[in-house]
Amino acid sequence: MSDAPQSAAAIPDMPVLEAIGNRRSIRYFDPEKKVEDWKIQTILQAGRLASCQGNINATEAIVVQKETCELWDEIEECVSGFNVQIINQCSHLVFWLTNLNAWYGRAVDGLGSVALAGGMTKYHGWNYDFTMTQTIPRLMSFPTERTEILLRFESGQAVAQSMLCGTGLGVGNILIAFGRKPGGIEKAFGLPPHYRFTWGHAIGYAKEDEAAGGQRPRLKFEKLFHKDAFGTPYEPDPELELLLREKEMIQPQGPLPGRIEEIDNLAAEFGRDAGVLHFPAREVERLINDEDWDFDDAIKARAAEVIDIEGLPDYPDEMRETFSALLQEHGIDTNKFLPPEA
Ligand SMILES: Cc1cc2nc3c(=O)[nH]c(=O)nc-3n(C[C@H](O)[C@H](O)[C@H](O)COP(=O)(O)O)c2cc1C
Repeated sequence: MSDAPQSAAAIPDMPVLEAIGNRRSIRYFDPEKKVEDWKIQTILQAGRLASCQGNINATEAIVVQKETCELWDEIEECVSGFNVQIINQCSHLVFWLTNLNAWYGRAVDGLGSVALAGGMTKYHGWNYDFTMTQTIPRLMSFPTERTEILLRFESGQAVAQSMLCGTGLGVGNILIAFGRKPGGIEKAFGLPPHYRFTWGHAIGYAKEDEAAGGQRPRLKFEKLFHKDAFGTPYEPDPELELLLREKEMIQPQGPLPGRIEEIDNLAAEFGRDAGVLHFPAREVERLINDEDWDFDDAIKARAAEVIDIEGLPDYPDEMRETFSALLQEHGIDTNKFLPPEA
């Protein structure tokens, strides 16, 4: 029986910029609250409607609930250790899949459907003969490794859209790795060999505050985006930034006041260890002074507070050699990423 709302007016209408700003990886779910089926279906619809190459519809998903899924124990054995609590407390798990055969099998129908819908036109140089004799055969001749890269990108896009939709509906989301048993999820579900399990997605009502302690810091805009040439910073407009803050797309960074206490209270409620992960003082100092990061005053104040905490771990100096070798292998400046020698 449908649990959909009585009218469209009852479906939340969060503006997209605000949904982008509100989205957090939620790690504490209320185990007592189930997400309504209509919300799950709306979240999947958002993935289904995401842009996909040649309209081939390569992204699929299996939706699982612990209470009804007979494969639960096998699934639990595959999830990475730090995600076990999450899968057991969330309401639904979505296993996003990428069907590589969509590339080979649906190329003609995908483009054919776009053409029928009026999306593929002669204006852009498309013509039937060339498409059938050149374009599609060339695409279909790609080795599966290349197809996999292309289609997984596309699945990522579908997942991102579905997560934003979840946020818009007031539902918490997080992507979670199932790295403990490589190939285990494919085996548990008996996936055909042309399917890839791309990522796990937990959905539920947040037990933590929906702001999850504030927006997580990112690198500065101009460190990520280039203008006209690689290496030329694209400088952000400070006036626009103020407006985006007003629209709640850019929000105060974590930790918001009370966040650290909130974590400890949640840990007490569920009988888990209290506290956050601490890095050595040298590492915190190095990071917080790194010019690439966009840190606001709250996180800087938190860093200052953390540096003063007694008993922070020491940087494991025996790791210096390992990290140096790994960084150098990729031509990365070790001085920037490793703390000064003690
Ligand atoms: C592909 C992908 C996989 C992730 N896997 C995990 C995971 O296994 N466990 C986890 O706690 N968070 C996971 N995350 C969440 C990230 O850690 C999180 O996005 C990041 O810390 C930034 O926080 P935010 O999403 O709240 O902005 C994943 C995120 C992405 C995009």
